[in-house]
Amino acid sequence: MPYLQYPIPHNIVKEILSIYDSPLYVYQGDILRQTIAHITKSIVYPHTKFHFASVTNGNLSLLQIFKDCGWGIHANTPGDVYLALKAGFPAENIVYSGSNLSAEEMAQLLKWGITTFNLDSIAQLQTFCDIYQFQNHHNCSGSILLPNVSPSEQDVSITNNKIESAAKEIKLGLRLNLPEITGDSRIGVQSNQFIEAVKIAEKVNLKISGLHFYRGTGTNATKAFTQVINQIIETAKLLPDWQYLDFGGGFGYPYYHDRVAFDWEIFGNEITDILLKLDKKIDLIIEPGRAAIAGCATLLAQVVSVKWQEDKQIIGVNTTVANLSVPSVHGGYREIVSWKSGKLYLTDVCGNTTYSRDYLGKNCQLPKLEIGDMVAILDVGAYGYAMSSHFLHRIRPAEVLLENHNHKLIRKREDYDILLHNQIFS
Ligand SMILES: Cc1ncc(COP(=O)(O)O)c(C=O)c1O
Repeated sequence: MPYLQYPIPHNIVKEILSIYDSPLYVYQGDILRQTIAHITKSIVYPHTKFHFASVTNGNLSLLQIFKDCGWGIHANTPGDVYLALKAGFPAENIVYSGSNLSAEEMAQLLKWGITTFNLDSIAQLQTFCDIYQFQNHHNCSGSILLPNVSPSEQDVSITNNKIESAAKEIKLGLRLNLPEITGDSRIGVQSNQFIEAVKIAEKVNLKISGLHFYRGTGTNATKAFTQVINQIIETAKLLPDWQYLDFGGGFGYPYYHDRVAFDWEIFGNEITDILLKLDKKIDLIIEPGRAAIAGCATLLAQVVSVKWQEDKQIIGVNTTVANLSVPSVHGGYREIVSWKSGKLYLTDVCGNTTYSRDYLGKNCQLPKLEIGDMVAILDVGAYGYAMSSHFLHRIRPAEVLLENHNHKLIRKREDYDILLHNQIFS
């Protein structure tokens, strides 16, 4: 997989920082396109569709790169769907596989024209079927509105105010809970509930045609996927109208650059061989999140303080765990590099608050740094900006897309007014 240790040449860093300032999320469009191409060509099975799991990153300009490359979107939530529609994806290229939607939200997804639904429980299936039947009978869903979204925005994909989904074929799938493989997971339906699911769907003239399997996030061991393909397929065969397999995301990304990485070719060859041996054509959906987008992004931050505790360098930077929560709050690792050379020292990289967990990196190896130097936190494309928050009342950084030596702002830096947003005070 393409990744570079010093991801952005120093002269370009200086140029973009003079324009956009720091902290700054920088996405390298060329790396993103290379990664998408690499994943796409690794799975040669002819009936494969790729859907980017936008839970990892919802920036519209990046979503549009996936669209350019022929991918659809995998949506976890109505918000994912909303962003995908805004980015210009046709509703039928958006697969929904989430959890615990209210009836109103399901109605909204149908109204937006979503046609593929992988549902997480018998109760969600029942809710879906009730809503589907209601909408079909009334041929109008206009009275069911998503909270907090204005009616005009809700019509984002609707032409002529008709219900898009009602006219199209609905593909219904079940998310799979298979304790032997997925362990103690809250997600999915167990195979002993398939018959009940099929009956519920039949009552509204729908079929359960899909099985969705999610391996668990960030798995770099290729075997963890390849070893279970047969078992998943045998389970899918229990569905009498089985037509598609959504093999989910969870594909790892090598944040530790010297450790094992998920091998797309091995996985692609294995799943292709197995699916081609089946006696009917099965459509395959693959929905990578982090594997596709992690490596193209860097968070640039400036050193604002340096101190030493014995032999350890403690640097303070102008970003925080609220801008990038994964390393500290969720225990993930992101490599931090600088453009300086020289002897390396054990270094903690600390955020600009006194929150006790405000570390961007612990025990890093960095040269002696000074106030004003820049550091680069690598591989932050997935669950980076998407998981940022206003915790600690720090505002969010800007986002810039770098492509073909051009740069453009794809999200503005927030200002302090954002902290007042929606507050009611007098
Ligand atoms: C159903 C589903 N697919 C794909 C993803 C993306 O996961 P990953 O980034 O591990 O590929 C998620 C993440 O929550 C998910 O829930």
